[in-house]
Amino acid sequence: MSVATLVSPTQSHNRFPANATEAVTHPDPYPYYASLAARLPFGFDASLGMWVAAGPEALAEVLGHQACGVRPAGAVVPAALADGPAGEWFGALVRMNDGPAHAAMKPWLQAQLATLHADRDALVRLHDASQAACADAYLARGDAPAARLDDFVFRQPIYGLAAWLGVPAAQWTEVHEDVQRLVAAMAEAGKPSPRADVLTHGHRAATAMRLRAARWLDNDAAPDTWLREVARRAASNDSVDFDALTANVVGLFTQTHDACAGLVANSVRRLARDAHVASVASDPADLSVAIKTVSDVIRFDPPVQNTRRFLHAPAVICEQALAPGDVILAVLASAPPSATPDGVAWTFGTGVHACPGRSPASTIAAIGVHAIRQAGDDLSSLADGTAYHPLGNIRIARFSA
Ligand code: HEM
Repeated sequence: MSVATLVSPTQSHNRFPANATEAVTHPDPYPYYASLAARLPFGFDASLGMWVAAGPEALAEVLGHQACGVRPAGAVVPAALADGPAGEWFGALVRMNDGPAHAAMKPWLQAQLATLHADRDALVRLHDASQAACADAYLARGDAPAARLDDFVFRQPIYGLAAWLGVPAAQWTEVHEDVQRLVAAMAEAGKPSPRADVLTHGHRAATAMRLRAARWLDNDAAPDTWLREVARRAASNDSVDFDALTANVVGLFTQTHDACAGLVANSVRRLARDAHVASVASDPADLSVAIKTVSDVIRFDPPVQNTRRFLHAPAVICEQALAPGDVILAVLASAPPSATPDGVAWTFGTGVHACPGRSPASTIAAIGVHAIRQAGDDLSSLADGTAYHPLGNIRIARFSA
């Protein structure tokens, strides 16, 4: 059976998506994912030109396989970004490397992120950042609630992370702008004919962000913050390369941009559909409502729906013979809590490349969603929306037309 035979074109309302990348923007892709995992956990999808892995067993095999890399063999940096600052930055990211470059930085970075505690101080900073993001979203998009929300869901996580790490408030707006440009350039570099202006903005943003990160680690970050502490620990550790560190500090922001936007936006859509929360009976000051909603989205409507792996050597995976150059779409959203061996949804990935930002992401998103509740906008008008940003891997609810 091929993946295509899973399509059920006869039921118009609940019709299955055509394939696993179209599923990302489908109103309810989860029955399709469950069907894929049950009937064809590993198969070639000719419409995508890729293998598709669904369900925890196939995902664990792919994401743990030595022959599978996070970038095509010999092409860590996309050709369109090479020969420029954005390419140099991209090539140093743990997210984009396997082997020694990954092993040298990932465990250290993970240990540093584990020291980001959601203590009182951090929560106050996150609250301030969310208020600033509300105000700037208003300046950028005006009074219409849906347009403001579409801006806020991307802006708030970047301001929140900046605030938590120790970036001075005066820089949050420009950091957000540069992260947006970098993310846009990364996406553009993957297209058949990338636009030169988007790439140029990306190169400029990479230079600006690397410079900023170097200054934060030098002495520009607020006293007693994560960035200051990380700089101190790096200085006393000969194995930490300063250039790789600045690149990966910038990488924390680009990793946050789309994924956290999805977490905040999908939580807002969930809130809008929850009649009880939308009613006056629910106290807007009650932070537990935002925490629960974010946690439900992490379990049942994950922002990162799939990730890719590239064959670096011939391998037999899930009883299929794969060749170097083959691509696998690993459908993380097909591993809900009810299916995984640990009872935890694989929303943050699994294996050596699993996300080290799970805990900060959840906190930042909860504070962002709480800020929206406190702003007092009537969310019920958004309850019927089913639009998503047109992406093939990240599910981000879209509120304005
Ligand atoms: C809702 C928010 C987020 C989600 C759903 C998410 C999800 C993921 C997933 C699925 C991966 C693995 C990708 C793969 O295996 O191909 C990943 C990697 C990563 N994430 Fe996140 N992430 C989120 C937010 C964050 C935040 C806030 C940070 C940092 C503060 C972060 C830092 C990273 C890094 C550095 C990696 C690369 C790890 C590696 O390649 O070893 N993420 N994330």
